[in-house]
Amino acid sequence: MTATEKESKLKAILETERLLNEIKDTDVLLERILTEARSIVNADAGSIYVIEDKTPVKNEDQIQEPIQPPNSEQSVYLKNKILRIKYAQNDTQLKKLEPGSKSPYVYFTFDITEKSIAGYTVLSGKIVNLPDAYCIDESCPYSFNASTDKAMNYRTKSMLTVPLITTNNKTLGVLQIINAQNEKGEQIPFDDDAILFINHFASSATQALEHAYLTSNMIMRMQRMAEYRDPKETYQHVQRVSEFAKEIYDKWAISKHIPKEEMQKYGDILKIAAKCHDLGKVGVSDVILKKPGPGRFTEEERNIMKGHTCIGAILFTEPESELDSMALEVALRHHEWWDGSENGYPGKINYNQYVTGEPVPKAEPLKGTEIPLSARIVAIADVFDALSHKRVYKSAWSVDDAFIEIQKLSGRQFDPELVLAFLSIKERICAINSRWESKAGD
Ligand SMILES: [Fe+2]
Ligand SMILES: [Fe+2]
Repeated sequence: MTATEKESKLKAILETERLLNEIKDTDVLLERILTEARSIVNADAGSIYVIEDKTPVKNEDQIQEPIQPPNSEQSVYLKNKILRIKYAQNDTQLKKLEPGSKSPYVYFTFDITEKSIAGYTVLSGKIVNLPDAYCIDESCPYSFNASTDKAMNYRTKSMLTVPLITTNNKTLGVLQIINAQNEKGEQIPFDDDAILFINHFASSATQALEHAYLTSNMIMRMQRMAEYRDPKETYQHVQRVSEFAKEIYDKWAISKHIPKEEMQKYGDILKIAAKCHDLGKVGVSDVILKKPGPGRFTEEERNIMKGHTCIGAILFTEPESELDSMALEVALRHHEWWDGSENGYPGKINYNQYVTGEPVPKAEPLKGTEIPLSARIVAIADVFDALSHKRVYKSAWSVDDAFIEIQKLSGRQFDPELVLAFLSIKERICAINSRWESKAGD
């Protein structure tokens, strides 16, 4: 590569790094880091891993605490940590799927040991550059696990594995890119230039990631507060609603030909805003929130309960960012009905004048696209998740029955276009469900 080519490449990388800093959701950011890293060195495939606690307490998840770098106590410290693969991308495999499809959902974990390449990278803090993953020197403690290659009928050759270490020497995860290609599409090893670019990119990406964790940890803490008040709004429920919402939006946005940049930006913010849908419950009395049994509310209590939408909106006024604005509309509007019937609430009221603990006053309902898109999406995700999971007052519906119910409510409670998008991604919705169930149980 000539000096001029190198310079223009570095410029492009700097621009990408700037864009990463605008991403707020950690998952969206991790996926983007992987995509961009692959594109910088024209790599066919890759994965990104994060370090997590081994056994999350049920109904809680760990706050992401960056771990300390290798030192004499690290093996003790890492004993209860695992590596979780968050995203795996493979262009060769993707080409075999329908256009517009996403890479399959992955959610497996493994222990951090020197035996795996990613584990070695975490423990040593070193980059591992393999010209051929099948020809590793016997003196190396790690080996290549070929099971995924076998399952996918793929051949991993060159592999570059980079630890994501913050400027404070904390390791957040591992970036692994596979099969660099030249202009002719031939597989080549990662050369010195590639390592230089990826190193530069990885350190900026890590900073962006550290920043995104600050936002996500704050939202997680707020959500835990809401969970103390209303135990059925569990951490897992909120995570699933957030992931479902993003999947529904992506599907809908592709069908509407929404430009890629706009789609990525909206999806990123939606993923976080969806987690805020019921934060307003912090302002509802325990006497009401914890009353057991179905049909448990009097008319007045039901109307007080409806106030959680207004309290949620009040939490996010005066909005100072696009995230605040979307969190506000999701919190305020996730119980509106598409058909404009009085089943929906709170309708056209001034939420700022709502008095906590009082019934929500009657107001003209909102209808159709008067309801913000974000809230129309979260409405489907929230109801589907409530139906398909066990709650204190009801057993879980089967996933099929829950899907049928959402379909029945299309055009009444829910936006029909969004229901169509939701029904067409059943497989992905089920994968998210199993991921969170396995996570709660493992
Ligand atoms: Fe709600
Ligand atoms: Fe909910």
